[in-house]
Amino acid sequence: MGRKLKLVGIGLIAVLIVLQFFQPEKNDTPIDPELDMLELLAPPEPVADLIRDACYDCHSNQTIYPWYNRISPASLYLYKHIKKGKEDLNFSEYGLLDKVDKIGAFADFCDVVDAGSMPLQSYMLIHKDARLTQEERETLCNWTEKQALKVMRE
Ligand code: HEC
Repeated sequence: MGRKLKLVGIGLIAVLIVLQFFQPEKNDTPIDPELDMLELLAPPEPVADLIRDACYDCHSNQTIYPWYNRISPASLYLYKHIKKGKEDLNFSEYGLLDKVDKIGAFADFCDVVDAGSMPLQSYMLIHKDARLTQEERETLCNWTEKQALKVMRE
């Protein structure tokens, strides 16, 4: 190995070591059953499982972390997704939404699932149980449509 290359290598390793001291906060606030969507609406088990497996890691207050979350910069990458995901939609705080926002959330939910833009591609690479079949996408959309109608009638 050339001397320059060796120095670059050592520099990179040093940066990676230093990065380990910067671990982002974990997303693990206890779920409030008065506010959480799955708790409040209690969908049929298969629907609840789909939503928990495919969406809750980034759109709730409780992420089930993979082992590599202990390593920076992977942990920073996950942190960013969870933060942005929760800003758009946090199922753990569903109960705080007003009627219009609830209906909007169900419409967006079905839109992204139907378009295949959620869950994120990078997530599905690792989480096989988050890869949704066409049938599962339809199951989810049927459920969200029903919920939106229910909210409208409330
Ligand atoms: C790996 C993290 C991750 C997972 C898993 C995930 N999302 Fe997202 N989601 C995000 C991020 C990040 C955003 C912010 C928009 C962006 O950067 O693309 C987002 C945005 C959204 C939005 C708003 C965007 C829009 O166009 O209206 C909806 C709705 C949504 N997600 C629904 C879901 C649903 C439903 C699931 C499960 C089927 C899911 N997401 C799974 C990370 C995730």
